[in-house]
Amino acid sequence: MNSRANPNDLAPFGEDYGPTLMGVYAPTASEHVLKDLPLLKGRIPADLNGVYLRAGPNARYAPNGRYHPFDGDGMVHAAQFDKGTLTYRNRWVQTDGWKEEDQAGKSTFYGIRETLKDRPDKRLKDTANTDLVAHAGKALALWYMSGDAYEIDPVTLQTLGKSQAIRESGGRISAHAKVDEITEDLMFFDYGNEAPYMHYGVVGADGKLKHYVPIDLPGPRLPHDMAVTEHYSILHDLPLFHEEEALKLGRHKVAFYPDVPTRFGVMPRLGASDSIRWFDFTPCFVYHVVNSWEDGDWVVMVGCRYMPALDAQGQIDPVRTARDVAELVMHARLWVWRMNMATGATKEHVLDPDRNVEFPTFNSRLTGRRTRFGYLVDHSEKKTLQWYGIRKYNLDTGESLGSWSDDPQNSWYSEPWFAAADNPQSEDHGYIISFQWNEALSRETLDIFDARDPSAGPVAQVQIPHRIPLGFHACWMAADRMKAAA
Ligand SMILES: [Fe+2]
Repeated sequence: MNSRANPNDLAPFGEDYGPTLMGVYAPTASEHVLKDLPLLKGRIPADLNGVYLRAGPNARYAPNGRYHPFDGDGMVHAAQFDKGTLTYRNRWVQTDGWKEEDQAGKSTFYGIRETLKDRPDKRLKDTANTDLVAHAGKALALWYMSGDAYEIDPVTLQTLGKSQAIRESGGRISAHAKVDEITEDLMFFDYGNEAPYMHYGVVGADGKLKHYVPIDLPGPRLPHDMAVTEHYSILHDLPLFHEEEALKLGRHKVAFYPDVPTRFGVMPRLGASDSIRWFDFTPCFVYHVVNSWEDGDWVVMVGCRYMPALDAQGQIDPVRTARDVAELVMHARLWVWRMNMATGATKEHVLDPDRNVEFPTFNSRLTGRRTRFGYLVDHSEKKTLQWYGIRKYNLDTGESLGSWSDDPQNSWYSEPWFAAADNPQSEDHGYIISFQWNEALSRETLDIFDARDPSAGPVAQVQIPHRIPLGFHACWMAADRMKAAA
């Protein structure tokens, strides 16, 4: 056991900076390597081999001014499984901004709520805090505003450097790049405020850039995710973007435009800029896609549609919608969008009209191929980032196939990820892995469910001796994909 621990395991700041640096949201000041942790329930499955990696914001120094959860420095928390044993680790992503502030011993950047005070040389700190993607044997730590791809050793969590392929492209990559685990191609996009407002690229299995093209958008946009199928990539142009006057003044303020359609652009994986074909849908924001695939001439994308707020007359309330998105208040429904590549026809419909579900996972070995099952979190309507349960869906019918929560009032799960069992016999033969903070018990656990029946509760629950701050995205890297790095 090896830990560098602050005695109270909290960074030395708190209530002066607002509620999202306190309580369940408070960052940790410690890095750990922990083995032989107490098992509260069941046993660690021997056919679960690989590493679950979860990114999140973890402010290291007291912020300059108002703090938003998007601002915190990236930290990775990992659970490595090896033949029935578990090792937990956590480590900062040592970004350029992290190193600069490490030297200064204080925050030298401003957060997203203080954009008028931004430094002229670097508008915001690239924190690499949003997402982790397993590619070519490494984990890439990514940032939602488009930044470097920080390469992380998936076992030690050491920051190895920056992806040379991304440096050779436009130098930036957004969170939610997608990896086709069959070809090991990585598809990515970037976006920004200068024309062209988006690019799309592909990095091959050898880690080299093999494609990079501009994507023509009508103006600066704020897409969050993308999707891939076996042959196509799908890019998002959504009606939630900067308020024009605020942008001119250098302020970061989003607006929702209810008269602008949601557009998805479909292009061949290695297609030229002009090969993209746009399909219009009803206006909405989309944080996260579950998966996408081809069905004859149709390209099918299943995701979480952010439901615009409605006024008393049932019309979209754009002000409330933009405010809710900005404040991470989630109102999402599982949804399917279909685009016909032969006729240009579109179809969309809700899969589950009743439940607020988000932060989806699926069997990522089938990225871009038809998947029957998705695993999402039940999302609190009231508490920011409270994901109180885990739910399995049939992605064809929208039927809920079972759910679990230890305690809907007090459980805060992290983004779960599906991990295939060794020698899987079916798409859902594997495990769902998530950290859980139980607020009533002040207890952190790592929970492992049998993905075939999550409603049976965890097959193993391991106690972690400290609270893991709430985070954003996770990934699973199977042992055979980790070995590819060695
Ligand atoms: Fe995201």
